Amino acid sequence: MNTAKLYDADNRVVFSADIPFYLDRARKLGGKTLELACGTGRITIPLAEEGINIWGLDYSSSMLEVLKAKVSKLSEKSQQNIHTILGDMTDFSLSEKFKFIFIPFRSFQSLETDEQALQCLSCVHRHLEDEGQFIINVFKPIKEIGEWWINLNENLDFESTLEGGEKVTRHSIRKDYDIDKRLLYTDFIYRLYKNDGLIEEYHDSIRLRYFYGDDIRKLITSSGFTIDEEYGWYDGTPVNEGKEFIFVCSKA
Ligand SMILES: C[S@@+](CC[C@H](N)C(=O)[O-])C[C@H]1O[C@@H](n2cnc3c(N)ncnc32)[C@H](O)[C@@H]1O
Repeated sequence: MNTAKLYDADNRVVFSADIPFYLDRARKLGGKTLELACGTGRITIPLAEEGINIWGLDYSSSMLEVLKAKVSKLSEKSQQNIHTILGDMTDFSLSEKFKFIFIPFRSFQSLETDEQALQCLSCVHRHLEDEGQFIINVFKPIKEIGEWWINLNENLDFESTLEGGEKVTRHSIRKDYDIDKRLLYTDFIYRLYKNDGLIEEYHDSIRLRYFYGDDIRKLITSSGFTIDEEYGWYDGTPVNEGKEFIFVCSKA
């Protein structure tokens, strides 16, 4: 089984706090919205249900399968608001331009090199209307990455219950880091339980790029954007006080 089917089991605050923020922005901007790396539609779907005309692009067909299964259960009106695209956010060319483009939930950190990051930002720039807005989120390292980051013990990220009644847990192991490439290597272990007995276990490994504030600001501004607002959380917490980097940008 691939872990796309377990993605929506995540019940951490970070998994819901951003939805009203993006909905509010999309509503105020009006027009067409594009979510890059939309995954299972965690944000795409609630926006479409609120009347936002939204395109969701992702390169994982298994994530998009989960999204499409959820979309098929929506009202016809909401379904018409969602347009899915199987594609790579570093290399896409659509016939539409958008009033609002966003890359939520740290997906930009999947791009492992400056080259890929710049290609993605260049695609965003080309697809954004002149008066449009672009929002990007990456997590903020609590301090300079070093040995302290490694933790080979299993850390429980979340525990929740699936529709069928099975309990699911996800644990992470912070395996390694690379200061030169600015990469973090993490293993995930998903465990499924029925009536308190373990029935299945899945393993997944990810590599995520990490950014300090000035690195990401430089990438954004060198790609033809002005950073208009910066937040540290979705309620408007100042960037120096929050856990995240959220940059609200426009074309320079
Ligand atoms: C953490 S999930 C975020 C999904 C969704 N936006 C959300 O907020 O729940 C990261 C997603 O990024 C997608 N992704 C990673 N690199 C990508 C790329 N180069 N092009 C398109 N999608 C990509 C993955 O397939 C995955 O669905």
